[in-house]
Amino acid sequence: MKWMVPKVRKAVFPAAGLGTRFLPATKAQPKEMLPLVDKPLIQYGVEESVHSGISNIIIVTGRGKSAIEDHFDVNFELEHLLETRGKRELLTNVRNISEMIDVSYVRQKEALGLGHAVLRAKEIVGHEPFAVVLSDDVIDSETPCLRQLLDIYEFFGASVLALMEVNGPEISSYGVVDADPVSHSSAGGRLYRIHNLVEKPKASEAPSNLAIIGRYVLTPEIFTSIEAIQPGSGGEIQLTDALRHLLRNRPLYGFKFEGSRFDAGDKLGFLKATVEFALRRHDLGKDFREYLKTLKL
Ligand code: G1P
Repeated sequence: MKWMVPKVRKAVFPAAGLGTRFLPATKAQPKEMLPLVDKPLIQYGVEESVHSGISNIIIVTGRGKSAIEDHFDVNFELEHLLETRGKRELLTNVRNISEMIDVSYVRQKEALGLGHAVLRAKEIVGHEPFAVVLSDDVIDSETPCLRQLLDIYEFFGASVLALMEVNGPEISSYGVVDADPVSHSSAGGRLYRIHNLVEKPKASEAPSNLAIIGRYVLTPEIFTSIEAIQPGSGGEIQLTDALRHLLRNRPLYGFKFEGSRFDAGDKLGFLKATVEFALRRHDLGKDFREYLKTLKL
């Protein structure tokens, strides 16, 4: 009988960062709550998770992040108000947020790195595979990016990372992999077997142009690897370093996902995402396009 690959049921959302790139907007408000059009960043990732079949959400929060908890909670007062005013559509919209997921929170007291944030979820995840979603990376695709990774995971039963080609000096802002293509019937030349990974290398030392994007499917052995490593780039406990440690005795795959990714953690990336998402909206797109055309650029 074929070995049954355990199902991924939980997704971890690290959300304890200080959001310094968006100050002063993030002084009293979590970066994850900045809206792209009218939906907070983190909700895009949560919806991607739900559409990929994972509704058990674990959010790793820090100080000043209570707005995230309130956002995914029920707001009786607001719901009552919308109901009495007959705003059915808005009511469904607001209700859906709290109904679509089962969410739990764990605190990361200090922002000591992505690996450290993921380790905080160890108790809640338990000994099962899980996904990690970085909500700064907003991905627009026909098949949700996380679903694309899960399809690979379900075939190989091994950890999988999302990859994207990044050319030029920007590669040094990412984790970068050294990998070889693997032929796999349904992967369309997008699948790689990873041999090494480096967090934020100098552009001249990057092992390839394949950057890690914030979607991971991980087997639970990663927790032992995170516990085993020392602080790396930026003095932080890096998930990339833990993955390199994991490689010593586990295979690791990368998948060049289909879709467009926006770096919403960066001001320019955030603006691009805002414009593109607004243009695609049925209720706004037409008027917004007309407006943009009037700009003398
Ligand atoms: C994190 C990861 C990095 C990855 C990036 C993707 O870095 O550490 O490996 O390439 O996310 O967005 P951060 O952008 O949080 O510095």
